[in-house]
Amino acid sequence: MKNSILIFDSGVGGLSILREVRERFPHTHLHYLMDTEWFPYGTREDEALSQRIVSLCDSAVIQLEPSLLILACNTASTLALQPLRDILNIPVVGVVPAIKVAAEQCHKNEEGDLQPQIGLLATPATVRRPYTEQLIRDFAPHCTVNCLGSSRLVELSEEFISGRNVIPALQQELSGWLAAHPQMQHVVLGCTHFPLLTPLLSELWPQIHWIDSGKAVAQQAQRIFSGNPAEGDSTTSLWWTGTQRPDGAAEYLRRLGPIHTSNPLIPA
Ligand code: DGL
Repeated sequence: MKNSILIFDSGVGGLSILREVRERFPHTHLHYLMDTEWFPYGTREDEALSQRIVSLCDSAVIQLEPSLLILACNTASTLALQPLRDILNIPVVGVVPAIKVAAEQCHKNEEGDLQPQIGLLATPATVRRPYTEQLIRDFAPHCTVNCLGSSRLVELSEEFISGRNVIPALQQELSGWLAAHPQMQHVVLGCTHFPLLTPLLSELWPQIHWIDSGKAVAQQAQRIFSGNPAEGDSTTSLWWTGTQRPDGAAEYLRRLGPIHTSNPLIPA
C-alpha cells in the first residue's frame, strides 16, 4: 500500500513509537510488524540477528510497499540500521538511546556538578553495542553513565500490555539499581518496550526524569514524509511472525483506532 508507514519491532515495544506516529499521522495507514518468532532480540547473537532483521524487513517492504520504514527497536537499530539502508530504496528511521537529550538536560539542571549521573536502561545487547558506547563518548563525556541491561524489563512490558500487574516485579528489578545511584535523576529508556511502563515508573519513582525517543522519532518521520501522507485511511494493520496471535498488541492498537488483525504471517 503506497504512502503507508511500516513500524517494526521484535514485540510490543514499537507500540510506544507507533502511538506518537499515529498522533502526527492521523489519516495514514500504519503497518505494525512484530517479529514474535524471534522475540526477544536483546539476548540474540549479533550476526544472526542482523541477517534476520534485514531479510524480514526486506520481505515486509516488498509485500506491503510502505513509503517509510521505522525500525522501532533500539536493539535492531544499533545493529542493522546501516545494512537496511543499504538494501532498501525507501527511507529508514531508526531509534537509538536518547543519551544526547539526557546529557543536555544534566548540563542545564546540574551546572557546577562535575560528574552528573545518567542512567541507561536497555536490553543487554544494546548496552554492550559499540554504537551505544560511541553515543556516550560523543554526547555525554561530562557524565557518568550507569547502564543496566535488563531482559526482565522487556518481559514485564509485554506482560503489562497483556493486562498483568507488574508493579512488584518492577520494584524488584529496579529498586536496587536506583538505590545504588542516588544522584541519578535522568534515566534513558533505551528500549522501546520501556516507555510503555512510564506511567508505573513515574508513579513508583517520581523523582526520576524518564527519557525516551518516541516523540523525536515521530518528528523525524514527519520531516521525511515531507508533509504529504495519504489522506483518509486511519487503519493500522497488525502483522506478526510467530504462531501465537499477539492479543495484547491488538487490544492496545484497538484503543488507538481501527485495526486489521487477520493478517497472514510474513515469511522471513
Ligand atoms: N524493543 C526492543 C528494543 O528497543 C527490544 C526488545 C527485545 O529484546 O526483543 O531494544
